[in-house]
Order: sequence, then C-alpha cells, then structure tokens
Amino acid sequence: MQTHLVGRDMITPDEWTDDELNTVFDVAFDLKRKRALGEPHALLRDKVLAMLFFFSSTRTRVSFEAGMAQLGGHAQFIESKTTQIAHGDTAKEIGEIIGRYCDGIAIRQVDWGVGNQYIRDVAAASRVPVLNMQCDWYHPFQALADMLTIFERFGRDPRGKTLNMSWAYASSYQKPLSVPQSLITLATRFGMNVRLTRPPEFKLMPEIEDLARENARKAGGSFEVLDDFDAGFTGADVVYPKSWGATLTTTDMEESKQIAGKYSDWIADSRRMALANENAIYMHCLPADRNIEVTDEVIDGPQSAVYDEAENRLHVQKAVMALTMR
Ligand code: CP
Repeated sequence: MQTHLVGRDMITPDEWTDDELNTVFDVAFDLKRKRALGEPHALLRDKVLAMLFFFSSTRTRVSFEAGMAQLGGHAQFIESKTTQIAHGDTAKEIGEIIGRYCDGIAIRQVDWGVGNQYIRDVAAASRVPVLNMQCDWYHPFQALADMLTIFERFGRDPRGKTLNMSWAYASSYQKPLSVPQSLITLATRFGMNVRLTRPPEFKLMPEIEDLARENARKAGGSFEVLDDFDAGFTGADVVYPKSWGATLTTTDMEESKQIAGKYSDWIADSRRMALANENAIYMHCLPADRNIEVTDEVIDGPQSAVYDEAENRLHVQKAVMALTMR
C-alpha cells in the first residue's frame, strides 16, 4: 500500500504505479463500505475542489460534488463559459490562481488536440493536485470505476477474463476516444485479455494501443484488435460496446458522422449478448444512445452493470481526492 500520494495529479492512471492504483482501489472499497454503513468519513474537512467544465456532464459533476460533501469539504461548479477564460485567462493563470484559492482543481476539457495539453498546463502551474475529469485522450476516473466494477464482479485478480472494448454506432455526437483509451491500458495492467473491436476508420491513438500491448505482455494477459462486431462478443466476460468518433481518420465531425453511418448495425442487442459467456456483464460509461448503440433489453437487462459502474465513479473519485488532497 502506498501512503505518499498527497499532492499527486491524476491525469492518467498510466502515470501511477500498480501499488498506487491498488491503494486507490483499497480505499475506494473502504469508502464504499463506510457509506453503506453510514459511517462518517470527513477526511477533507474544510477543503475545496474547483471543478472547471468546458463540456457538459451528469455523472462526473454530481459524483465529484457529492463526493466532496461526503468527505467534509466543498466543490465549486464552474463552467468555462461563465469565467474570463474566453477573455484571456490562460491555463497558467488558472493553475496559479485557483491553486491558491482551492485544494484541488478538477477539469473536463475534451476538445481534440487541446484538452490533455490544457490540463497539463494547468497542472504545471498549480500548487494543488489537478484531477482530469475527462480530456481528449483519457477519462481516468471512468476507467478506475470500470475496474472497480470488474473487481466486484470477478474478484481482485481478473487474469484470464476477457474484456471486449468495442466501438458501437451512435447518432447523437462524435464521442471522445478517452473511455476506450483509458480502459484498454488499465485492464491490460491487471492481466485481462483485452480485445479492441472497431471498424478500420475508428482507430485509437497508436501509442495507446502500443501501451496496451506492452502492458499485456508484462502482466501476462493479451491484447488484440478485431474489426468484426460479433467476433468481439464471442466468449467475452465483459462487453463494453460504446461509440467514439473517427477522430484519427477525420477531424470533420460531419464526415465522421457519415463514416459512422456505414456501421449503424453495430448495436449491442440480445443476440450479440448471447455470444458472450453465460455470466458476462454489459458495461457502458453512459450516456448511451438507447436503441441505437444498445437495445433497452440489454442495458436494462440482468447482465447490465451500468448502475454499479456509475455508482463506482463516486467511490474511486473520493479515494483519489482523499489520498491526494489532504
Ligand atoms: N460517464 C460520464 O463521464 O458521464 P458524464 O458525461 O455524464 O459526466
């Protein structure tokens, strides 16, 4: 167990050691148990988290805000459009100034080619931890919550279990690459057999795929890339079909939407679920495009883990905040 995490940023779990991540999971389970028992755990009394959003949110906003209150502190909801950022406040100024008012800065900035660098620029200027609430490359707290959910369902040693991280069709908007990129690199570290299933136009960043491959080699699992939607489900223990944009093929969102339209039959339905293992679980970070990305029957069905997954956002975020913001 690692006990020297005060002051650390969480921009991607790739920058945390296995021991450090296991500490996060241990603390998350402990805080989840405490909340279930009604045991107070005001570990961050009088601390303040600034939450800066450049993009909308349901789960991330509510879970960070609730988490800070449960830890005895306070969270400020700040939309970038209501700040002076558009009038010149730089990332350095945000880091320097908000870092002097608050005890942590959490940021969601998902613009392609902008978000990750912005968060790193704020972190470089900040004296307090910076937490990535989703950028263009990573969604660390989603991946941590996803792993906590997998541990709950399959035990703390998921080696030998197959996770199918798959693209699925959606029509609402071209979603960031951050969820699949974060999960394939995290699940391979825990020795899972990870499949990345996607049409050829929906590649992830090559360095992320290389990292997943290297993680799998070190941990004794596997990493493979498939382009057949049904094959991805076959024999899997965890299926995670969700949409993302054809961002590495085109940065034109209209063209990305047109390309996605070629694969509108990539929907998670009960026929596909029957290809997976009998005890397989269905996961999705939400929001999902219902009856486009996944049928109601699957997302509301007995194999769906989406509500536990969403709840676990709260517990992993509280764990990281309690460990880093003291
Ligand atoms: N999964 C997730 O990050 O949800 P929100 O976009 O609602 O925060």
